[in-house]
Amino acid sequence: MNFATIIAALALFVATRAHPARSVKATDLSYQCQAFSIQIPVTNITTLVSPFPEPQDQYQAVSIVNAITTRLSQAASGSPTFANVTATYNISAEYCQPKTASSQPVKLQILSHGIGFNRSYWNFRPSGNSSDSQYDYIAAATSAGYHTLSYNRIGINGSTIADPITEVQPSVQVAVLAGLTTLARAGKLPNQPSVPVNTIHVGHSFGSQLLVGLAAIAPTLSDGLVLTSDSNLEQYEIQFLIATNGLIANVADPMHFPNSTYSNGWWTWPSQYANQYAFFAYPQFDPTVLAQAEATKQPFSLGEIVGQAILPTMAPNFTAPVYFVNGEKDLIFCGSNCTGLIGPGSPAFQAFNGSSSVQSTIVEGFGHAMNLHLNASGKVYTPINNWLKSQGL
Ligand SMILES: *[C@@H]1O[C@H](CO)[C@@H](O)[C@H](O)[C@H]1NC(C)=O
Ligand SMILES: *[C@@H]1O[C@H](CO)[C@@H](O)[C@H](O)[C@H]1NC(C)=O
Ligand SMILES: *[C@@H]1O[C@H](CO)[C@@H](O)[C@H](O)[C@H]1NC(C)=O
Ligand SMILES: *[C@@H]1O[C@H](CO)[C@@H](O)[C@H](O)[C@H]1NC(C)=O
Ligand SMILES: *[C@@H]1O[C@H](CO)[C@@H](O)[C@H](O)[C@H]1NC(C)=O
Ligand SMILES: *[C@@H]1O[C@H](CO)[C@@H](O)[C@H](O)[C@H]1NC(C)=O
Ligand SMILES: *[C@@H]1O[C@H](CO)[C@@H](O)[C@H](O)[C@H]1NC(C)=O
Ligand SMILES: *[C@@H]1O[C@H](CO)[C@@H](O)[C@H](O)[C@H]1NC(C)=O
Ligand SMILES: *[C@@H]1O[C@H](CO)[C@@H](O)[C@H](O)[C@H]1NC(C)=O
Ligand SMILES: *[C@@H]1O[C@H](CO)[C@@H](O)[C@H](O)[C@H]1NC(C)=O
Ligand SMILES: *[C@@H]1O[C@H](CO)[C@@H](O)[C@H](O)[C@H]1NC(C)=O
Repeated sequence: MNFATIIAALALFVATRAHPARSVKATDLSYQCQAFSIQIPVTNITTLVSPFPEPQDQYQAVSIVNAITTRLSQAASGSPTFANVTATYNISAEYCQPKTASSQPVKLQILSHGIGFNRSYWNFRPSGNSSDSQYDYIAAATSAGYHTLSYNRIGINGSTIADPITEVQPSVQVAVLAGLTTLARAGKLPNQPSVPVNTIHVGHSFGSQLLVGLAAIAPTLSDGLVLTSDSNLEQYEIQFLIATNGLIANVADPMHFPNSTYSNGWWTWPSQYANQYAFFAYPQFDPTVLAQAEATKQPFSLGEIVGQAILPTMAPNFTAPVYFVNGEKDLIFCGSNCTGLIGPGSPAFQAFNGSSSVQSTIVEGFGHAMNLHLNASGKVYTPINNWLKSQGL
């Protein structure tokens, strides 16, 4: 990855298409938002040549899961070959701020969602009760005084759905985030009210893994990191992959994921119960929220799985504070038991050995998709925003 070229390209080329403020679902929102689409160029980003070609059919996809999860797998860890990506992507984003104007300097949180979701993860509202804000992270952050920028990662409808094997890889996702962050720090997003005094990154799951990558390649781009649902351990992730069966999205649900848009390198999982297994911990969720998450789920790419091999897991040059927040029963990053896995000396803390402060919280009874568990606002969002204040962020 070449960070200097990202910056240089951005300085030359910033094109935006701004849309008017969206009509929000709930009428009682205490915050206001503007959705927009912005073009982000990336230049000469190193990617991994996938050891697996695009599966021709569902049988081959299952066999790829077999190969990746094989004991002492060579296929998944053999000698790598590299390629590079130069492209410009459309990114669907949304900037939100408190409705009540403030004279305080702007502190911005940039929110990176995980696999299976789009940026609506950050302002989830139950379809049966849009005034219920218990799952709405943006509501919590804006009422704590922050501005937020959420975006659909590449591969997520609204943003460019690029090639799932050669392009939609973690290193490219990090480069897109670096590009978006560079614009945000300079106050150059469409209609951005001002240059922020602090730019904080909050991630969920794969989105948190991207923050480790960001902190590694561009350690001065963030003033603080909040990593939710990430332990910096990779060994439990195969449990997620197994739960998906490598189900090709256009086979599982051709209406939502037509093969004209989603080739066989886009995968999902079979049912809401597979979703529950990987993302939710019983009984701390509302079944109607699980059903809604399943009905609005987004596919993930084979490139995002195999490309993790070249995503940095250490960011020794990152000096700002870091906060890990994990559900006690997180399957994907803790094998359903985070107790004892995240703390001083753990791979999570060691990743940030140059940081001024690394802290962690385990949320009792919660699973992987923490924002969708009961009272996420009280159990997760209040600790996050209190931690930010405690760090002067
Ligand atoms: C592209 O990246 C590769 C690997 O990081 C590097 O060796 C090469 O010099 C870069 N090329 C350009 C034109 O920046
Ligand atoms: C990028 O990869 C292509 C092959 O896909 C190669 O021809 C080219 O030399 C590479 N460019 C850089 C700058 O590494
Ligand atoms: C909707 O959510 C609000 C806020 O949590 C709650 O007060 C209200 O009772 C809920 N309404 C219904 C119909 O469940
Ligand atoms: C992408 O989103 C647009 C706008 O919401 C929608 O019309 C379209 O059907 C979606 N495409 C796919 C492939 O899901
Ligand atoms: C980005 O959006 C523009 C305008 O809608 C479209 O013409 C272009 O093809 C898109 N580019 C990509 C890479 O998706
Ligand atoms: C794509 O889907 C259409 C409609 O479901 C189907 O007729 C067609 O055979 C599929 N194409 C491929 C290459 O699988
Ligand atoms: C997220 O995905 C759902 C389901 O496709 C869709 O209804 C919603 O509009 C998407 N949100 C964004 C911000 O793309
Ligand atoms: C950390 O920064 C030093 C000095 O700029 C540099 O030499 C080193 O390569 C960086 N380490 C990493 C892991 O990026
Ligand atoms: C979780 O792991 C810890 C050790 O780190 C152990 O003490 C505890 O019993 C485990 N919890 C469950 C529910 O098995
Ligand atoms: C942090 O860890 C790296 C190895 O990733 C090591 O080179 C470096 O010396 C460590 N820094 C400190 C301050 O311990
Ligand atoms: C939500 O969690 C907070 C923090 O634990 C707690 O104070 C509050 O009472 C909870 N609210 C509900 C409705 O359970």
